[in-house]
Amino acid sequence: ADGARVPALVIGSGYGGSVAALRLAQAGVDVQMIEMGMAWDTPGADGKIFCATPNPDQRSFWLRTRTKQPFSNFLGFPIDKDIPRYTGVLDAEEFSGITVYQGRGVGGGSLVNGGMAVTPKRENFGAILPTVNADEMYNVYYPRANAGLGVASIRPAWFETTDWYQFARVGRKQAQRSGFPFVFVPDVYDWNYMEQEAAGTATKSALAGEILFGNNYGKKSLQKTYLPQIAATGRVTISPLHRVTQVVPASGGGYTVTIEQLTTAGAVSAIKTVTADKVFFAAGSVGTSKLLVKLKATGALPNLNGEVGKGWGDNGNVMVGRANQIWDPTGASQSTIPCGGIDNWAAGGAFAEVAPLPTGIETWASFYLSITKNPNRAQFTWNPTTRAVELNWQTAWKQPGIDMAKTIFDKINATEGTIYRTDLFGTYKTWGDHLTYHPLGGAVLGKATDNYGRLAGHPGLYAIDGSLIPGNTSVNPFVTITALAERNIEKIIATDF
Ligand code: FDA
Repeated sequence: ADGARVPALVIGSGYGGSVAALRLAQAGVDVQMIEMGMAWDTPGADGKIFCATPNPDQRSFWLRTRTKQPFSNFLGFPIDKDIPRYTGVLDAEEFSGITVYQGRGVGGGSLVNGGMAVTPKRENFGAILPTVNADEMYNVYYPRANAGLGVASIRPAWFETTDWYQFARVGRKQAQRSGFPFVFVPDVYDWNYMEQEAAGTATKSALAGEILFGNNYGKKSLQKTYLPQIAATGRVTISPLHRVTQVVPASGGGYTVTIEQLTTAGAVSAIKTVTADKVFFAAGSVGTSKLLVKLKATGALPNLNGEVGKGWGDNGNVMVGRANQIWDPTGASQSTIPCGGIDNWAAGGAFAEVAPLPTGIETWASFYLSITKNPNRAQFTWNPTTRAVELNWQTAWKQPGIDMAKTIFDKINATEGTIYRTDLFGTYKTWGDHLTYHPLGGAVLGKATDNYGRLAGHPGLYAIDGSLIPGNTSVNPFVTITALAERNIEKIIATDF
């Protein structure tokens, strides 16, 4: 409520925010969680909470009047369409050199992501989070995160036989024919549910194209894992459609947080303040970075250090499609949930998810989202003229990632006698180099914060989300974000409360 005083306030309800709220509440601390997106707990006129990926309506995008699909084109035709402006679930946030896709709502990115739940290889961990004790992570916090998120892999016998994963079997065969290891990728999708979808005994979700704008069934987003546990504590209040804009030291200690209440059209309907003893920034890499950079530059939190806003990376995301030979169809029926990848990290700096292209027709296309070791890092800065935070990433900075992905796909094309598709990201454009799904960094652990996420200069302020991770995780990031949050909150509860 307006004017309230709370022991802990959490900004954002994605992985980092959910871990923080749950563990604080279990330790007896009352928590106020602020989330700018909707609750996503009420069905629309069609009886569904989320709209179908093939038919985006107002629920699809965050405050846009036209969709901005990651694949802008298909068979040369643009596919975007007009929609009513609404607080939809997927934000395509545009900076000058990159579009950053993010989830909006209670559950954050878990509402829109592919659920690929990958723990990095142990030998790569030192390069991901160099100041973190790897033994503790692999013995305690990665297992805790995997259990809390409900991570599992596809049943091998079903993988080998189902039509829905023909695209992945083609991906495996071609990877292996070129000498690359194919690895199964765990996911938080309920694989038993998916088998029931295929058998016709459960309402289809992953097998009906649902993913990018939310899954109505089957996917264990945070709404099915951490958030019910949070509700069961009785100590956490969640305020959806509320956006934090300001955090300043309060005269009697703690911090005064200014919060805008939003309408579903994105207008501000009320402005409230809450004073919190401790504030956790869990607004995601971009959200946390934007807040911290603005608050430092405008003098609200002047003692934040010069590392705030730095060390931002795209997890090396690049996308590409290949056109297969006529004898290698990838299937008209494709599950939206990837289940395997091609690992060329050690030799080539690329880990490629074999992704579906669920169009409902045979396309003979193989499609991949690669995570690469792209070393480029960008910085968020405050522009006092526009009063906005900018990111200096340039599209050309994707080139090292493209070169790394080519170590896999040039070889596969040579082996198979095939070519890249040029119709997915524009006309005659091969590489999807305009976006990331995996923003990381901006409040890097051990730089903008201490080794547990305590922000420098202002006691009682913490970063506890993807902003802590310096730009790359070698695999999909949310398991690492969750595990790091579990590690940090345990220390913070033990020493700061
Ligand atoms: P996250 O972004 O989850 O949560 C931040 C929350 O804070 C959001 O709900 C936001 O609305 C809210 N917020 C922001 N600013 C605020 C403010 N000022 N006031 C109040 N609230 C505010 N990863 C993976 O491991 N496997 C995968 O398969 C995929 N696939 C994938 C697909 C797509 C389409 C996307 C967009 C992303 C993925 N990801 C993924 C990435 C993954 O979802 C992402 O890394 C995590 O959600 C990040 O977790 P965080 O806790 O850092 O923030």
